[in-house]
Amino acid sequence: MTYKFTKFYCDDSYECPTYWHEIIEKNGYNRLLELGIWEGHSMYNFVSLGIRDVTCIDIWMNDYTKENFQHNKALMLEEFDDLTIDDRSEMSWTAMTDMLAKNEPLFDLVYVDASHFAHNALLDGCLAFRLLRVGGCIIFDDYHLIRKNLGAPDLTPKEGVDAFEHVHKRFMEPAIVNDYQRAWYKTMQEEKIG
Ligand SMILES: C[S@@+](CC[C@H](N)C(=O)[O-])C[C@H]1O[C@@H](n2cnc3c(N)ncnc32)[C@H](O)[C@@H]1O
Repeated sequence: MTYKFTKFYCDDSYECPTYWHEIIEKNGYNRLLELGIWEGHSMYNFVSLGIRDVTCIDIWMNDYTKENFQHNKALMLEEFDDLTIDDRSEMSWTAMTDMLAKNEPLFDLVYVDASHFAHNALLDGCLAFRLLRVGGCIIFDDYHLIRKNLGAPDLTPKEGVDAFEHVHKRFMEPAIVNDYQRAWYKTMQEEKIG
């Protein structure tokens, strides 16, 4: 059997596997939260780079992507020893508030790639940051995505990611920031009350 990927997100032409590799290897990351899975192509890249404990969330807007993901998930579990994949079919923010309410273990790495509207990217970023341990890394995909014919800047992640970065800058330092992806190390615990 072969993997069913109809889109190759973040392949070598984007160079992200190269800097993801540096981030994961340098820090020995193992536990990933991925928001927005599609068919699991980026997950496959993360697992190929050494990640073995994956929690992922998607509402799978297209049925065929869910079927392809389930197919690809089964193959990944065969191909990689000691891999666990906990896939949750749910809105990103309800799944994350549930994890926070249950005090689930924090993540080493969070990949934010679900809804690409600015307000959702902001909400996902804020909740995901609470689920990230100090020393972990949060990566936003498609920072400067241009969606032709949609017209307004808040229809892409950029304004949401900018707002996230603005209010979290005390707690982070850059790993890789470019026009395509923004990766930040969490350096400090954010205040929860006060
Ligand atoms: C760009 S694709 C993800 C690609 C994937 N991360 C990769 O690189 O292979 C975006 C996915 O986010 C999902 N999605 C969109 N809005 C969502 C939301 N609010 N909660 C959960 N999933 C969402 C869509 O169903 C779609 O599968």
